[in-house]
Amino acid sequence: MKAAYIEKTNAPLNIKETELPVSTSAMKLVKVTCAGLNHRDLWIQKGKYAGIKLPLIPGSDLTGHIDNQKVIVNPAFYWGDNPSCQSKDFEILGLPSSGSIAEYTLVPKENIYPAPEHLDDIQSAGLPLAGLTAYRALFIKAKVKAGEKVFITGIGGGVALFALQFCLAIGCTVYVSSSSLDKINRAISLGAKGGVNYNNENWENEMLEMSQGIDVVIDGAAGSNFGKFFKMMNYGGRISLYGGTQGNIEKISPQILFWKQLSIFGSTMGSPLDFENMLALVSNHKIVPVIDSIFGLNQINDAFERMNNGLQFGKIIIQITES
Ligand SMILES: NC(=O)c1ccc[n+]([C@@H]2O[C@H](COP(=O)([O-])OP(=O)(O)OC[C@H]3O[C@@H](n4cnc5c(N)ncnc54)[C@H](OP(=O)(O)O)[C@@H]3O)[C@@H](O)[C@H]2O)c1
Repeated sequence: MKAAYIEKTNAPLNIKETELPVSTSAMKLVKVTCAGLNHRDLWIQKGKYAGIKLPLIPGSDLTGHIDNQKVIVNPAFYWGDNPSCQSKDFEILGLPSSGSIAEYTLVPKENIYPAPEHLDDIQSAGLPLAGLTAYRALFIKAKVKAGEKVFITGIGGGVALFALQFCLAIGCTVYVSSSSLDKINRAISLGAKGGVNYNNENWENEMLEMSQGIDVVIDGAAGSNFGKFFKMMNYGGRISLYGGTQGNIEKISPQILFWKQLSIFGSTMGSPLDFENMLALVSNHKIVPVIDSIFGLNQINDAFERMNNGLQFGKIIIQITES
């Protein structure tokens, strides 16, 4: 079979022929039609991820087929029994195991689910990792409710856009940030109330004025902007942090944190139940993932480059085979 390989960090990926993996009683072979890119794949290619072992077939998202059934895969393997956090055996598809940017991939049979019926192969390949992460950050950690005001950072990102769609589905008012006015306007056309550019010096004052106070922040960037959330947040506000794209958190005020009774939650992917509930939400509300662009397997380096340049609005999809 053909597969994309990261053989060296900070180097282009190579498409190579490799042996077809073999099913076992625990692991099923899935024929991949489409794979989705996540920022994780880029971090691995840049050598900025824990436990990298090369060569590696990357990719955590896919739509595939098993015996003529269209399936998707929960990329969070071996979560364990504790709903609060993952077990020590936890793994994510695409490191250490071979990932989805290949004609076939092996996955634990309990991680395989029917793809949502209202989505085509391209759309459902964008859903699993980012949809799961957004679901847990919003509903399990921040416990967001209808009618609350939610601020989502970096709206061009895959997780951020699912957070927007899920919040709108349950009746929240959503504000966003982005480095791009065009992306803010596209988020508004999807239903966001407004947005600010997170590179503006006083963006938090702009957001406070626009929203008159935020109940929940969903953030994947951290860095120097994190401490600025507190000022624009309402008393009892919650922050769910699922990523650190901008680096370490700087300058947070303990006084505002305790006086406003704010809570900060770390969130990573989700449990099998979170995945099932995320799929139910998507199916019940007929949510369609926002697809940025579609590349062929031979264009894999163009796809990585698009994500590296932060050009995307939504999911970048690699079409592997025809369905
Ligand atoms: N904990 C988990 O389980 C988990 C799961 C998924 C992802 N993550 C992490 O979350 C982050 C996002 O992942 P993704 O796959 O959604 O990424 P993605 O689709 O590549 O999107 C990244 C987005 O980050 C935004 N961004 C960049 N610099 C920013 C800043 N200074 N402030 C706010 N936003 C900024 C950009 O938004 P604009 O283009 O709008 O400017 C960009 O679209 C990554 O760091 C990833 O590793 C963690």
